[in-house]
Amino acid sequence: MAITFPDLSTTYLGLQLKNPLVASASPLSKSVDMVRRLEDAGAAAVVMYSLFEEQITHESDELDHFLNRGNDTYAESLSYFPDLEHYNIGPQSYLEHLARLKAAVKIPVIGSLNGISSGGWIEYARHIEEAGADALELNIYYLPTDLNLSSIELEDEYVKLVQDVRAQVHIPIALKLSPFFTSLPHIARRFVEVGANGLVLFNRFYQPDLDLDELQVMPTLQLSTSDDLRLPLRWIALLFGRVQTDFALTSGVHTAQDVLKAMMAGANVAMMTSALLVHGIEHLAHVLSDLQAWMIEHEYESIAQMRGSMSQQAVAEPAAFERANYMKVLNAYNPYLH
Ligand SMILES: Cc1cc2nc3c(=O)[nH]c(=O)nc-3n(C[C@H](O)[C@H](O)[C@H](O)COP(=O)(O)O)c2cc1C
Repeated sequence: MAITFPDLSTTYLGLQLKNPLVASASPLSKSVDMVRRLEDAGAAAVVMYSLFEEQITHESDELDHFLNRGNDTYAESLSYFPDLEHYNIGPQSYLEHLARLKAAVKIPVIGSLNGISSGGWIEYARHIEEAGADALELNIYYLPTDLNLSSIELEDEYVKLVQDVRAQVHIPIALKLSPFFTSLPHIARRFVEVGANGLVLFNRFYQPDLDLDELQVMPTLQLSTSDDLRLPLRWIALLFGRVQTDFALTSGVHTAQDVLKAMMAGANVAMMTSALLVHGIEHLAHVLSDLQAWMIEHEYESIAQMRGSMSQQAVAEPAAFERANYMKVLNAYNPYLH
């Protein structure tokens, strides 16, 4: 009997993608050759590393306002910027590199801006569009330390930022968010109302550690494992069908099983960085072939057919995603007592 190959295609931000595997923002996109290899391995799209607000403007009043809130460490924090310059390249080179990537590959290239305040720097959204980006990912990374800054004030600022970026560009915008919102469904709805076409859940935070010998705060970058999948998985499952937008799952996508879970929760695409940094770019091709094999074995015809099939709205026990399950899980734990 002839095998019918499943249809792996999906849509994300209005883009037709050949499969749901997208390379998320990472240093891999700094090299044209790496991005070609990502395309050859089967990546359906690639998100470029971020251009940071701090790189575009050091003296923006709005940024100043944010960084100055609640502490006196702004001058000190400026000293971190040279590191950023190392991590990244300047705004003009960013745009030139984006244009080079676009010329080198056929898959969509998504530009990425990382910032927190509305201001002149967001013109770069338009420059990214002009340089040929198929969509824009806006990474809102802000760690509030001000005791007087309320969540509603902060959320209003975020919403204004999204509105302002929306007014700059015609290309689709996805918002990459942190999981640290008091009421994620509400802010997700607000973002979509002001024009976000997709939500990328979740930004992974790199938590500083303390070095006990040197008595210094150590920046640490720990790559994810598949265990990290569960936080975005739960939230996409909860939001799917209720907030009318596309979802990208980022954090913890390492295997075909992780991709399948992302799709069943309701994601349009599953994004990968850590797995590619650990196993190499060709890992993506293995995940795609495992995905196809699993779908054939389990008689799934398409990704579209499985999307959201295990979202909260679809499952027999919706409470499994909610607080009700918390008590059950804790009570079911049987400790081995000495
Ligand atoms: C070395 C490194 C650099 C990254 N650079 C960016 C970046 O420039 N912009 C961004 O939005 N995310 C960046 N990320 C986050 C990834 O895109 C991704 O969201 C995160 O690593 C979680 O996915 P993973 O579990 O597949 O690694 C970076 C991650 C790593 C490990």
